[in-house]
Amino acid sequence: MTKSTNLTWHSAAITKLDRRVQHAHGSCTLWFTGLSGSGKSTIANAVSAALYKHGISEYVLDGDNIRHGLNKDLGFTDEDRTENIRRIGEVAKLFVDSGKVVTTAFISPFQSDRDQVRALFERDEFIEVFIDCPLDECERRDPKQLYVKARRGEIKDFTGIDSPYEKPSAPEITIRSDQTTVEESVNQVLDYLRRKSIL
Ligand code: ADX
Repeated sequence: MTKSTNLTWHSAAITKLDRRVQHAHGSCTLWFTGLSGSGKSTIANAVSAALYKHGISEYVLDGDNIRHGLNKDLGFTDEDRTENIRRIGEVAKLFVDSGKVVTTAFISPFQSDRDQVRALFERDEFIEVFIDCPLDECERRDPKQLYVKARRGEIKDFTGIDSPYEKPSAPEITIRSDQTTVEESVNQVLDYLRRKSIL
């Protein structure tokens, strides 16, 4: 519910379709979701590099980075995570309107939050990419040494330990990141985009 009144929506002179025509490719959100340490950022950045190499106008929104700026007022309670994802969803929508392929890498642990974001988009614009990696493998990798801290009780509400992660019920793409190389994962995403005529 918007709190502001006396607002007028201005129609843009240049539309999403105009920008898609100029870029000569479609625009969409690749919404990566998965546990911390599952490989979201690594695969998202590899996808970004591959798209860039192919001349695709793209951008990555990454959880840790966005939490340094736009969302630095938010923590890790359920409410703050919901607000984190809501804002990113709105930003991603702007990127899609600007004609880009935007990749987002957020744990986004709640199905209802991801569904709310999906509802912002038109059909085929929101592609949920489940980076599926068992918790014990994420914990073994522990690239940021956060699981070890969470187990010691030094971080509370840590996803997978004392805060839930709801697996996507019907993701467009599932990547078993413990069984797939980064290169194979990138190809899986690019193949999907080609099948959908976005590339
Ligand atoms: S989300 O749940 O709101 O989607 P987001 O992806 O933005 O999370 O941020 C997750 C990143 O924040 C993790 O990769 C990790 O580096 C860091 N982090 C710090 N505290 C927590 C926590 N309690 N739970 C999960 N991640 C945390």
